[in-house]
This record gives sequence, C-alpha cells and structure tokens, in this order.
Amino acid sequence: MKITIVGSGYVGLVAAGCFAELEHEVVCVDNDAQKLARLERGECPIHEEFLPELLKDYRGNRLVFRADLAQAVAESDVVFLTVPTPTGADGKADLSNFEQAARAIARGIAGGSGYKVVVEKSTVPVFTAEWLEEVLAVSGAPRERFDVVANPEFLREGSAVCDFLFPDRIVVGAESERARKVLRAVYAPLTSGGYYARADAIPAPDRARIPAPLLETSRRSAELIKQAANAFLALRISFINAVANLCEAVDASVDEVCAGLGSDGRIGPAFLRPGIGYGGACFPKDLAAFRAVAEECGFDFRLLDEVRRINEEQRERFLARVREALWTVQGKRVAVLGLAFKGGTDDIRESPAMAITERLLAEGASVVAYDPAAMARARAVLGGRIAFAEDAYEAAEGADAVLVLTDWEEFAALDLGRLYQALRYPVMVDGRNLFDPARMAQEGFFYSSVGRPRVAPGRPRAMKMRRVS
Ligand code: UGA
Repeated sequence: MKITIVGSGYVGLVAAGCFAELEHEVVCVDNDAQKLARLERGECPIHEEFLPELLKDYRGNRLVFRADLAQAVAESDVVFLTVPTPTGADGKADLSNFEQAARAIARGIAGGSGYKVVVEKSTVPVFTAEWLEEVLAVSGAPRERFDVVANPEFLREGSAVCDFLFPDRIVVGAESERARKVLRAVYAPLTSGGYYARADAIPAPDRARIPAPLLETSRRSAELIKQAANAFLALRISFINAVANLCEAVDASVDEVCAGLGSDGRIGPAFLRPGIGYGGACFPKDLAAFRAVAEECGFDFRLLDEVRRINEEQRERFLARVREALWTVQGKRVAVLGLAFKGGTDDIRESPAMAITERLLAEGASVVAYDPAAMARARAVLGGRIAFAEDAYEAAEGADAVLVLTDWEEFAALDLGRLYQALRYPVMVDGRNLFDPARMAQEGFFYSSVGRPRVAPGRPRAMKMRRVS
C-alpha cells in the first residue's frame, strides 16, 4: 500500500521504518526542513534500537522524505497522522498541529484520485476523529472519498520498533467496513504471521504474540483505550511507589512485596518497579489530557490527580534522601548517573532525572553527570551548569555521593569496586533500585534505595517504625 506518515517524531519515524519493513511504500512528511535534510542524509535523529538499520535499508527506495504534504496525500491510499499533541490550556491536548495538517490533507484528498483513509495515530482525546472528519470535509475533501480511523500506538521509547512489529494488540477504531478493510490490509503481514515467517524479520522479543491480534472497535473506544492504557500504567507506578513508601516506614522490602503482588495472575509483574516516578513525553501529558476529557464529559476523575500527586512527591522524597545522605548539599560534589527519563533512550522530556539535577543545582551542589545516550540533549538544556563525564567512574571521581537516576542496564553492571575507589565517600542513593542492598553493604557502601531498608557497611539492619512523611 502507499502510505503517507505526517510528522517524523518518535512515532512517525518508527511507523515509517516499520511500514517499509512490512513492504509498504512510505512517504514521510515533515514541515521541519532541517530535520528532513538530516533524514535525507541518512541520519537517525533519535536513539532507538533497530531504527537506524531500517532507515538505512529503506531510505530512497520504499521510504522517502518529503515536505509537500498535499502532494504526498494525493498519491497515497492511507495517511497516518503522527504529529505532536502537547498539553495546552487546562491540561487539554493542544490539537493545533492536527488541524494544520488536516487542511493540507484535505487539499491532497481533493487533488488526488480514489478513496483514502486518514488515520489518527498520535494520542488524542475522544471525539477527535469526528472533529477531524469535519475539518477535512469543511476544507474541501469530498465526503465519499475518505474515512477517518483511530489507530492508537502503544510504543515504548527504547523498544519502539519491536513494540510496533510485535504488538500485544493492534487497535483499529473505524465506523465503516471500507476503512476497516484498508487497515486490515496495512497490518496483514503482522496479523497473518507472514512477517514473522520471513528469514530477515527482526528477532521476536520474549513473550511476543504471534500472529499479532487486531481488535476492531468504534473510534471513540479506540481513543479511550489509548488514554486509559497510559493512565492505568501510570497508576500502577504511583501505586507501587506509595507501597514502597510504606515499606520504608516499616523496614520491609518492596522487592519482596512486588514479587508477591506480581505473581498474582490478575495483577502481573509489569510496571511495578518503584523509583523516582514516571516521566517522558507521554504519561504526564496523557494523564493531564485524560483528566481534562473526563471533566468535559462531566466525570470528576480525581483518582488521576492522586496518581500525579504521588508521582511528584516521589521526587521530593528522593531529594530528602539525598539531603539525609549528604547532610548539607551546598558545595557538595554529586555524581549523577542517568539523565534520560528511562533507560534505553536519549529522551529527556519530563525526565525526573533532569528535574532532580536542577533541584540539586538550585541547592548549591556541583554536579558531574553521565548518561550513555542523553548527554547531548541534556547539555542543550543545562549548558555549562553541570560537568559531563565520559563514563560512570569518571563522574564518581572525588564525589561525595553517587545518585542513580535512570535505569540503564550498563549501570546495573557497574564494577562496584572501581566505583568505590573513585568516590570520595562511598555513598549511593539509588532512585531506580538497580542494586541489591546486601551486596552494596558487602561492597562497603552506604546505600539507600526506594522501598528497601537502608544499609551501611557492616552495620546490622535496625528494626524500627517510622512515620511515613
Ligand atoms: C509509554 C507507554 O508505555 C507506551 O505504551 C505508550 O505508547 C507511550 O507511553 C506513548 O503514549 O507514546 P514510554 O513513555 O516510552 O511509553 O515509557 P514507559 O516505558 O512506559 O515508561 C514511562 C515512565 O515510567 C518512565 O519514566 C519509566 O522510568 C517509568 N516507569 C515505568 C517506572 O517508574 N516504573 C515502571 O515499573 C515502569
């Protein structure tokens, strides 16, 4: 099929590379001329496993980059909208990028020939499909020549290509059989299993659902599924963070509690990792947008406020732990491991690690940071206010404490003896629970983490009750 992707951000680029991998002909359109030039030169602007390979394999043949949206639409069967939907006034999603793109898409439908399906893939509030349909019609697209479909994406940054090609489910919200047929054809290589039988397919991750299930729903249900999924995952994280706080109060271990909770088949183990809270370009924004949607529909979804409150408090609790470990922050040298909002990505948007770093700077600490992928982006924001190291050991050199702020696998594999030698004081505050407390004590560290007993070298664990503060 001939596919146009509108917007070459995380979702757009991944979808473009993956649709080309599924043997569709893809045109990726963006209004950022610099970005297009970089993509045309063969650069991959984001850190995402398998994406550079896909862009390299298909650029110039099944995948081309263009600036003229209307022209690309005129020549396509399906148009995927993957433009950003940032938080606007009152937490609502700002759909101005959508509207702008819709006007050009309408020109493309009117100027082209045949029937086209316009697909919303970005996360949008319920009723957006109806609204989009109207804007397209008002902007001159003949009504019988297009349909609007909601097909939300569930990609995680860092594993986006695998999530796209090995999805838990594909959700297609459509109101016409004609449109549903087109989307079934787009995803046929995944739903028939054809792609997975290919010798050159990307290797299947553990527990992949093969063939991929496709769920057909109404458009409104599809829109709600996406927002509800992100809100529910954020809720799980805040829930386990609250439980971790209780564990700290009674010197229990959240690891043990999670093992017991997650082994209940009705609960499951995923998204129960406590830490410094969720961040990124999706959860904070989508939670606010979902809250605003509920409000507009007359439902006071206060549970979501609480999810956000616990999330924000988690950073404060971490900072309190750092203050406790350092006694005074002013003038202390702190090694920060991780700036990205999670491991496996160079994305620092709404990163708890960045927020904590800013707070430490405001309190007078001097920070030396290391992140395997996000340093260039962090430098653009923090500039000369912090120092950047070549690796974790260099960051730790002479530091009064080391803070773990992002769950990079390479941090979990650090040589603790070497780290110990580098530090001025063997103090680690771990916001991601990457290490085993007993081992840290053995290695000579004063170690505090989230929801687990604090340990000191050779000191026995104290049994005590504290108030949750
Ligand atoms: C999230 C969803 O997981 C995707 O399904 C969705 O498609 C995407 O948002 C989106 O709407 O575009 P992503 O933001 O890439 O994906 O990252 P996650 O892996 O979900 O992590 C989000 C945040 O929660 C990170 O800061 C992570 O460190 C934190 N987290 C995650 C925890 O603190 N604990 C956990 O157990 C899991």
